Amino acid sequence: MGIEIRPRINRWTLARRELNFSQSLINSLVQPHFVVDGTGIDSEIKGMPGIHRQSIDVLIETIKSDFNNGIRSIMLFGVIDSQLKDDAATQASNPSSPLHRAVAQIKQMYGDRIVVMTDVCLCTATAHGHCGLVEDGEILNDESLQVLCEVAISHAKAGADYVCASDMMDGRVEAIRKALEAVGKTNTGIMAYSVKYASSFYGPFRNAASSSPEFGDRKTHQMDIKSGYKEAILEAQLDQNEGADIIMVKPGLPYLDVVRKVSDSVNRPVAVYNVSGEYSMVVKSSVNDEARSAMVNEIFTSFRRAGADIIVSYHAREFAERNSEGGIK
Ligand code: PBG
Repeated sequence: MGIEIRPRINRWTLARRELNFSQSLINSLVQPHFVVDGTGIDSEIKGMPGIHRQSIDVLIETIKSDFNNGIRSIMLFGVIDSQLKDDAATQASNPSSPLHRAVAQIKQMYGDRIVVMTDVCLCTATAHGHCGLVEDGEILNDESLQVLCEVAISHAKAGADYVCASDMMDGRVEAIRKALEAVGKTNTGIMAYSVKYASSFYGPFRNAASSSPEFGDRKTHQMDIKSGYKEAILEAQLDQNEGADIIMVKPGLPYLDVVRKVSDSVNRPVAVYNVSGEYSMVVKSSVNDEARSAMVNEIFTSFRRAGADIIVSYHAREFAERNSEGGIK
């Protein structure tokens, strides 16, 4: 069987069309969230003032307020208790995990009016914190694909619009597309973290998601920061050919040139991830709200100029608050 390319996935709902094809900045924003077990939990993440780990009840309220300010797309990361982590990343595909329950609840409340994206990786669920299965200190590629497919299927069944492959294993987009087809999830999309560098800008996130590797690093699968445009275009085109519906470049600011090159080399919408370390830089360096807001506007503008159709950013909420009716323009 060949690989299914399904351009209709990005058109399936109005919210998906607005995210992928709208010229309006607010429609192109995706707000990330960190979901934890329990109730009444709302704990600020170290290094990321304004961004919290939240239990589902609190998360629902946050999403409601963001939605009213115009945020229509969200990306969810599940934070897993350390006692529940194991070598097989079992919790990553557990349908009763906080992440899966959050997706189901949000979809039940908002249906097609919201675009729900979920992170598909093993690093938050493995005891060693790596993005794949590990044997003799090495991160296995093909063996990890099966597990990633199970995670993707479980997210699709919970109701995710897009599963977001952030692991950087070779061949995972094709494997996930085929797995989704096999269970009849033909309108679930794949956002591929296609051009993802082994960056030093992910520090605050790993703290937030408790996903730091116990040993070694991510340099055997994430891209070398010194690699040139050829490697970036290779990864982007591979994922496009394997059936990715959205191609992502990550991080954003240090790789604006790569966003432009990739955007010129693929036919799918391009997303940029304005990552945790980039958020922290702005938060720490802005002297007041006005200065911060000007920085955020400038950064978002630069992403657009570089060719990004979609912007995943922890600043999405504050941008929406300022630009919502009654807010400061
Ligand atoms: C999971 C994943 C990471 C981020 C998104 N998905 C961390 C990593 O690759 O180590 C980083 C996001 C951020 O820094 O905001 N693999």
